[in-house]
Amino acid sequence: MSISSGTTPEGTQTEEEASRWVRGMFSEVAPRYDLLNHLLSANIDKYWRNQTVARLKPYLNKPDVKALDICCGTGDMTILLEKATSVPALGSDFCHPMLIEAGNKFAAGRLKSPLFEADGLRLPLRDCSVDVVTVAFGFRNFANYRQGIEEMLRILKPGGVAAVLEFTQPPNAAFRSVYNFYSTKVLPIIGGVISGSPKAYKYLPESVRKFPAAPELAQDLSAAGFRTVQYHYMTFGVVALHIAAK
Ligand SMILES: C[S@@+](CC[C@H](N)C(=O)[O-])C[C@H]1O[C@@H](n2cnc3c(N)ncnc32)[C@H](O)[C@@H]1O
Repeated sequence: MSISSGTTPEGTQTEEEASRWVRGMFSEVAPRYDLLNHLLSANIDKYWRNQTVARLKPYLNKPDVKALDICCGTGDMTILLEKATSVPALGSDFCHPMLIEAGNKFAAGRLKSPLFEADGLRLPLRDCSVDVVTVAFGFRNFANYRQGIEEMLRILKPGGVAAVLEFTQPPNAAFRSVYNFYSTKVLPIIGGVISGSPKAYKYLPESVRKFPAAPELAQDLSAAGFRTVQYHYMTFGVVALHIAAK
């Protein structure tokens, strides 16, 4: 990897432009985000988040655990964290329309987790103040991956854990070619039509292709200072979950 690299949507030259592009794109798709997510993944996205929380159980069981879901979007992971902990979790995102969707969902479900607007690369939290930080399908969109890792390390207490759930390139070559056909030919058509934002669903497979493979991301988490790093592929390696302890 290029640990210093980050996402580079077409037409962007700087980290600031990349970040603005990402925020604008999620603002466009926010009202249809949940529908598309569940439809395009055949609801498997729910399983991926559930598995993440299941693997975090030993850390979430602590009384008064402080768990933060960054890049929370419409809040599905934040909700699972709230249900798994004795105290409300926190959810943050830098895209206001996504937080509005999350807020509506939380109000309907009487959920208590506070939401706040913040860039995951510059979180308004003290050093060593969080026990568990999760990022589901958000990390790949950071304009600077190193900064994203360092920010998670900074806010985590010693012994705290980060969970990074992200799309990746399936390791099996035969499956990868089938999946790549789906993600580059089928998904942009369905996603583009339903969301009204073709660029969003063109960006998705491109950003996955450019994102570091799971073993590389594990190395980068270790190199940045995480003490132990493990990763697990799910669904034939369509996604990888990295769990890194500070
Ligand atoms: C694909 S959505 C995932 C949402 C949610 N975590 C989920 O599991 O469905 C990615 C989210 O990351 C957010 N995001 C991307 N870059 C960010 C950044 N630098 N700071 C905060 N949020 C960011 C986007 O606004 C978007 O809501």
